[in-house]
Amino acid sequence: MNAQDLGTIAVIGGTGAEGSGLARRWVKAGLQVVIGSRRHEKGARMAAELSAELNGAPITGTDNLSAAQQADVVVLSVPYESQQTILASIQPALPDKILLTIVAPLLGKKKGRYTPPAGGSAAMEAQAQVGADVTVVAAFQNVGAHHLQDDQHDIDCDVLVCGNKRAAREVAVALAEAAGMRGIHAGALQNAAVAEGLTPLLISINTIYKTRSAGIRITGLAL
Ligand SMILES: NC(=O)c1ccc[n+]([C@@H]2O[C@H](COP(=O)([O-])OP(=O)(O)OC[C@H]3O[C@@H](n4cnc5c(N)ncnc54)[C@H](OP(=O)(O)O)[C@@H]3O)[C@@H](O)[C@H]2O)c1
Repeated sequence: MNAQDLGTIAVIGGTGAEGSGLARRWVKAGLQVVIGSRRHEKGARMAAELSAELNGAPITGTDNLSAAQQADVVVLSVPYESQQTILASIQPALPDKILLTIVAPLLGKKKGRYTPPAGGSAAMEAQAQVGADVTVVAAFQNVGAHHLQDDQHDIDCDVLVCGNKRAAREVAVALAEAAGMRGIHAGALQNAAVAEGLTPLLISINTIYKTRSAGIRITGLAL
């Protein structure tokens, strides 16, 4: 699958470190991206900043609902604590679309200790909330924002893609490749709990080894 054929990608919460990093890399790869924010002005400002930094590349920004309405693929990049509220605000735009969630729940005071959310995972909670006519796929939980923000460097990290529909996973794999990484089919959406749990584990490794670059790599694949 060619990521350039995916249509418009909305990044909900694309004003943040992770979402703007992905947007930067996708725009650089020639994808059509719209930044979503709780405030139209903030989304438009981030889009203008990215465009200026990328030699005038076309990118727009608006409020979250408008961004989701314009999109073929909706990427959710907000803190876990606001996931439920933000999803409710964009729900009218979601039916029949792919919702790619990069949300990694970091519950409790210690960000390096994994606590599963009540619904099993943030991705499972998202699917339960948005309903069966939205296809949720989880990816990018284990890619640090600073990797994405520096679009000149290669990222030594794989992207685990979990979702119940292969076609939706293919979309996420194509988006991982467009962002400069290898996307790996990692099975059902239920498995997103494992990818989400790796995030605090990587935070702990970063703390112990005094770095911020720890990532994951799957071995043994002939890809
Ligand atoms: N940062 C990383 O290295 C990293 C790595 C892997 C996964 N993730 C996951 O990716 C998601 C986004 O990460 P991030 O670091 O980009 O997050 P962030 O900067 O804290 O938030 C992203 C955006 O979410 C919106 N937002 C909505 N409700 C909010 C609230 N109650 N408080 C603060 N912001 C709110 C804000 O946009 P508006 O104000 O424009 O609405 C904000 O710019 C998170 O779920 C995180 O766990 C992050």
